[in-house]
Amino acid sequence: MTEKTVAPLRETLSCYKNLPRMVRFHNYVRHATCPFERIEPWVPRGGTIYDLGCGHGLFSLYMAISSPRRRITGFDISEEKIRIAREAARDIPNVSFHHADILTQDLDPCDVITILDVLYLMPPGRVKEIVSKCHRMLRPGGMLILSTTDTHPRWKYLLAYCQELLAVKILRITEGRELFFHSRKELGALLQTAGFTVHAERMDRGYVHPHILFACSTRQDATGK
Ligand SMILES: C[S@@+](CC[C@H](N)C(=O)[O-])C[C@H]1O[C@@H](n2cnc3c(N)ncnc32)[C@H](O)[C@@H]1O
Repeated sequence: MTEKTVAPLRETLSCYKNLPRMVRFHNYVRHATCPFERIEPWVPRGGTIYDLGCGHGLFSLYMAISSPRRRITGFDISEEKIRIAREAARDIPNVSFHHADILTQDLDPCDVITILDVLYLMPPGRVKEIVSKCHRMLRPGGMLILSTTDTHPRWKYLLAYCQELLAVKILRITEGRELFFHSRKELGALLQTAGFTVHAERMDRGYVHPHILFACSTRQDATGK
């Protein structure tokens, strides 16, 4: 694999071409509604990366295809999603997937952790546990790249809430029992308390969901970008 400046998300989507139509549709919608291309440049181009709550592995694969110097491991609590992610990653050497609960799984130290749209499935106590665990797991100078849904603007939040209600409670395509959307202020405070230096940036321009990115560094003085 040669390094590319901008990895086309289309190439990542094509990894799913032999998988069932519903899987292709799900990932197509996901790529169209989540600003992966704005998030990916925040991820360092090399090192050991854990993608926690990776789902079908779309972002893990995108990071892997974007830079062969990244060694990515995706973790998800859904066995079925991990099976799909493994099939999609058959020809991509620098990514692997594991079935695990990120709350209980012991993980080795790493350089970068990404968590995209997972924390809304967890109450504040669990989020606190997870971000503290991430801070402990990261090597010095490591980064946590967190993307989530803000609670503002209100109309975007309500839309995201209804969509996730459908996904979690009715269609059951996402594992979880309750929804706990955390505001930018709440999450920022939790991350700082865990010891991170936090840079928050809205990512929702042109998107109907209120995406927000937290680039969190274990350094005390910079965003680490
Ligand atoms: C909305 S999906 C996001 C998937 C992926 N990060 C993305 O951006 O496309 C949330 C994922 O978090 C996973 N998840 C929820 N709780 C988890 C836990 N305790 N451990 C591992 N994965 C979890 C779900 O199974 C689901 O695949």
